[in-house]
Amino acid sequence: MAGRSIGGFSGGRRGRETAHELARYEALFAARTRGMKSSAMREMMALTERPEVISLAGGLPDTSTFAPELYAKLMSQVAAESTARALQYGPTEGMAVTVDCIVEVMAAEGTEINPANVIVTTGGQQVIDLVCKALIDPGDVIVAEAPTYPGAVPTFGAYQADVVQIEMDADGMPIDELEGVLDRLAGEGRRPKFIYTIPNFQNPGGVTMSLPRRRRLVEVARERELLVLEDNPYGLLRYEGEPLPTLYSLDALLGDGVSSDLVIYLGTFSKILSPGLRLGWSVAPRAVLEKLNLGKQGTDLCSSPMTQLFVSAYFAERAATGGPAWIEYVERLKDLYRRRRDVMLQALGEHFGGRANWTHPEGGLFIWATLEGVDTTDLMGRSHGVAFVPGRSAYMDGDSGASSMRLNFAGVPDEDIREGIQRIASLIDADAGLLGTDTFPSRNAAEPTDADKRVSLADIVPLPRREPPGPTRRRQNR
Ligand SMILES: Cc1ncc(COP(=O)(O)O)c(C=O)c1O
Repeated sequence: MAGRSIGGFSGGRRGRETAHELARYEALFAARTRGMKSSAMREMMALTERPEVISLAGGLPDTSTFAPELYAKLMSQVAAESTARALQYGPTEGMAVTVDCIVEVMAAEGTEINPANVIVTTGGQQVIDLVCKALIDPGDVIVAEAPTYPGAVPTFGAYQADVVQIEMDADGMPIDELEGVLDRLAGEGRRPKFIYTIPNFQNPGGVTMSLPRRRRLVEVARERELLVLEDNPYGLLRYEGEPLPTLYSLDALLGDGVSSDLVIYLGTFSKILSPGLRLGWSVAPRAVLEKLNLGKQGTDLCSSPMTQLFVSAYFAERAATGGPAWIEYVERLKDLYRRRRDVMLQALGEHFGGRANWTHPEGGLFIWATLEGVDTTDLMGRSHGVAFVPGRSAYMDGDSGASSMRLNFAGVPDEDIREGIQRIASLIDADAGLLGTDTFPSRNAAEPTDADKRVSLADIVPLPRREPPGPTRRRQNR
């Protein structure tokens, strides 16, 4: 039959046939597959493939900024100089030349590591999967931020973890709340297998964990012998403010140079170089590392030597200034993303002002916006010209975060950012008109509404539950 694929699904009837096939195999599927939710992300990907759609949805860096000549040169170099190694399997823990690059990136993060504690992985995503594979039995507790990384949600679900999410505020996860949760769990005889956090420019929240909270988190981990999974893809993409130490480095600092071996670090080349390479890493305590290694053997044996050698060749490159080319590229990315962030903040001020809150990230790729009274999953379903990530996908219950959305400012040009935000605003306007409500009364430019004043004065952090901390953290959104 024309157009029939190997799997027996033809494009147009795919949904129906999939449902039929699922029913047929129902009894065969493992219980864990019930925790594998088809997220809004999947629906969204179909939408974002359409050229007329402006996607503010993906976690995409802008790979078009990488010089094509350099890419071609490095690929040729790997092909010419390392043919057999590039085409061969590699060690599960990763190639030594790649680990050297990781040591360099970690040093740029202000974090000294022992290369023997590194495992190279197929993206940072694989670290999340392997850590769960090593630690999580069904029903085990993971403590995570709310909202949390949408890509971790299906992984936690697949391992049937019981995830307790703690609402963030402008300074990230409140550690006193974490301690309350830990006490409550202890009262139930339960101890989390790990605490999952993205301390820098959180995905999707856009907030950064403050230094006092970082310190306290590491202290709590030490006091209670708890593992922390520190997910840090964005640390080097800081557009303003001073870099903060990683939890991994704080752990050694608090122990007077002696690590507690309780922090598992996740890093990636995806955001500082390319997600297409599919290379990330973990720095972990030896005992954990061994389990990650065993888990990885069962998953993919090793990460691609081809891309590992590419990274090694790239890190040997010098910029015109004489410094490492990779650092110069990160600097260029920072300039570009900083500008795009500001374009998005300005567009939000113009089009969402008075009816939404949003974060002001000091780095990373995302802004988290909350439109009270709007269901962003519904909105996304009706959207034909713009894509974003509905807030629900950042919560395990699939229900919280309904009025929030994650907006990526890094992967699209300025004019698309402006147009995309304007399209979302128009959708909301159309809805408000359709429903005949005054949920979003039109603004009078001369007389700002109370909501306007709140937006321009508040920290624009829609992740409260707690009072925003001190006035020093407050800033205007534009
Ligand atoms: C917080 C976080 N962790 C992990 C990842 C996984 O990235 P990768 O597998 O491309 O390294 C991402 C990607 O967006 C992320 O935002």
